[in-house]
Amino acid sequence: MSGQQNHKFVVQAGGQLTGTFRVPGDKSISHRSIMLGSLAEGVTEVTGFLEGEDALATIAAFRAMGVKIDGPDKGKVLVHGVGMQGLQAPDKDVYLGNSGTSIRLLSGLLAGQPFNVRMTGDSSLSSRPMRRVTDPLALMGARIDSVEGKPPLTIHGGHHLTAIDYQLPMASAQVKSCLLLAGMYAEGTTTITEPAPTRDHTERMLQGMGYPVAIKGNRVQIEGGGKLTATKIDVPADISSATFFIIGAAIAPGSDITLQHVGINPTRIGVINILRLMGADITLSNEAVTGGEPVADIRVRYAPLKGINIPEDQVPLAIDEFPALFVAAACAEGRTVLTGAEELRVKESDRIQVMAEGLQTLGIDAKPTADGMVINGGVIGSGEVNGHGDHRIAMSFAMAALQAGGAIHINDCANVATSFPNFVELAVSCGLKIDAIDE
Ligand code: S3P
Repeated sequence: MSGQQNHKFVVQAGGQLTGTFRVPGDKSISHRSIMLGSLAEGVTEVTGFLEGEDALATIAAFRAMGVKIDGPDKGKVLVHGVGMQGLQAPDKDVYLGNSGTSIRLLSGLLAGQPFNVRMTGDSSLSSRPMRRVTDPLALMGARIDSVEGKPPLTIHGGHHLTAIDYQLPMASAQVKSCLLLAGMYAEGTTTITEPAPTRDHTERMLQGMGYPVAIKGNRVQIEGGGKLTATKIDVPADISSATFFIIGAAIAPGSDITLQHVGINPTRIGVINILRLMGADITLSNEAVTGGEPVADIRVRYAPLKGINIPEDQVPLAIDEFPALFVAAACAEGRTVLTGAEELRVKESDRIQVMAEGLQTLGIDAKPTADGMVINGGVIGSGEVNGHGDHRIAMSFAMAALQAGGAIHINDCANVATSFPNFVELAVSCGLKIDAIDE
């Protein structure tokens, strides 16, 4: 728990979700807009930026490296790019809070700079694995110190980087993106092959800013020495934040919501694919492409759900959505089985363990396995669960209350502010009986 205070959610049972609204901007795209905008030539204008703690940590990091960034103001940010060689040494450690995306992507970007940087984070970030980035970066010639493979990370600048041909050991967009960013500073053509498709926002934004990237199947290539040109970036609403409302509406009879302008990049829509297999009523409208990213309005009306075996090819496409999907499985008729998702154990919390424990507390038959979970749908009871400082755990259990027999108390919820600062307000406005309390 951060500090002494327990920021807690108390959610009364029952209700339904209704209304038409927009959730905050995509976290992944917000981070990348600051990183690539900072390295570009010219002023990048970002709209729809996520004003959550994680993306703000990325802004603070680039400001500390001499980049002028105006905003965010109602989602608008102006990034005054300094060019590929324009970053300056920060005068103190760069603190990245809870943000895995910041520290992993910055590792690659900073490996190519002439100066040293030490990056730190909160207790959750300080326990997350970093060898997945430091090992391939070392192969490129970078020198990075970690504490037994974990943050703080000290990047020693001034080392010549050479391109590598690297097969990712796990499906990770953060590792892929880290190596693409390092690849911009490396001599030669860096080739990255992923075991399964992961979110491709970095590739899309690089191309949108005029930096060529060659994509063929699961392989992506980038040549060092190019440049980025400032552009306008319209950040769509985050499908990962939309997910809590999608699941809430899918489990609560009488619900009917429309979420506007949500990013529906094919590498992010596992949650829609999986819920449709479970019987959910989800329709898309107003489909468009903005700044190279597909968007749509997503309408969800309640329909009974049934348990399924979740196809493993959907796992990387729904990787952040499993805490909420476990709640859907708890409300479904029959058994849901997830396999091939061991990555969930190294997210902001061990999402397999903490979701299984919380669901068990609420009376659900949920068995954690090494790489997933087996959940038998049932009746959610009332009780007190722990958010473990993980935003997505807290918001998932909040939605479970829609179908619970009594109130659900969720402890350690402060980190909801990392990705969804107005979650409680928005949830109240569409029908969730939620209060946030500091005690
Ligand atoms: C992200 C990639 C995913 C995801 C994280 C954001 C990104 O992490 O879980 O929330 O912005 O690239 P992994 O690359 O570790 O799967």
